[in-house]
Amino acid sequence: MNTTLVTIKDLTVSVKDGNQKKYLIEQINFDIIQEHIVSLVGESGSGKTTTALCLGRLLSLALTIESGKIIFNGQDFLTLTEKQLQQFRGAEIGFIFQEPLYAFNPLLTIGFQIEEVLIAHSDRNRKQRQSRVLELLDMVRISDPMRVFRSYPHQLSGGMRQRAMIAQAIAASPKLIIADEPTSNLDVTLQAEIIELFQELNQKLHLAILLITHDLGLVRHLSDDLVVMKSGRIVEKGRTKDVLAMPRHSYTQELLEATH
Ligand SMILES: Nc1ncnc2c1ncn2[C@@H]1O[C@H](COP(=O)(O)OP(=O)(O)OP(=O)(O)O)[C@@H](O)[C@H]1O
Ligand SMILES: [Mg+2]
Repeated sequence: MNTTLVTIKDLTVSVKDGNQKKYLIEQINFDIIQEHIVSLVGESGSGKTTTALCLGRLLSLALTIESGKIIFNGQDFLTLTEKQLQQFRGAEIGFIFQEPLYAFNPLLTIGFQIEEVLIAHSDRNRKQRQSRVLELLDMVRISDPMRVFRSYPHQLSGGMRQRAMIAQAIAASPKLIIADEPTSNLDVTLQAEIIELFQELNQKLHLAILLITHDLGLVRHLSDDLVVMKSGRIVEKGRTKDVLAMPRHSYTQELLEATH
């Protein structure tokens, strides 16, 4: 059954440019269905990250959500108070960014930083939390969870850090993961491993994933649905296989041709 997890409705974001207002995304509409992998693609600067940040209400202060709604599991996300929002992030949505070094605090161990999510979002005691963190590290296929638990971010390889960030993102069992170009800093072998992991988590944990990527091979292989952006607007969306089989917008055709 296709149950909608998130509805993004007429969302518009602006930035002040001197005396003028510039629109970064304009009137965008799309749904994320429970347990679906949705790819969000488009040229650089088209508004993909801005869209993702709206879903966490993580926009920088310079940007304003002018209008629109984000309905998450029936709740109007944009009207939540800061306190409700804190509860929402992590518990309902996990974030995975391109560069995990920025996501982790360099001064704290990986184990502690994943544990922090559990402190905020569960009532496990210390021992239960630590065993849950080890379980999470194992779930993202880290073969020596104890070593990683005790490591500081810079002591890990890029691939390991990426896995640790995924463990952190899924720690409080969110229903949605937002992954903004999660593999573009990794080499090809690691990319394939991380993608396989996403697929596994999607199936095992029934996670919906919003995947922002420039890799159309990945889009084709992994995603149920596809949203194509250009200059802050959605120019095409639908089931991935339908959109790729019969792209209606010239920009999508160009995208497809560029990867052949
Ligand atoms: N804080 C900001 N202040 C001003 N303009 C911004 C800000 N953040 C983003 N923009 C502008 O908004 C537009 C959309 O940016 P965004 O980062 O969402 O694009 P993107 O599709 O994620 O691109 P990329 O593929 O390069 O990551 C760009 O023109 C960008 O310059
Ligand atoms: Mg981006």
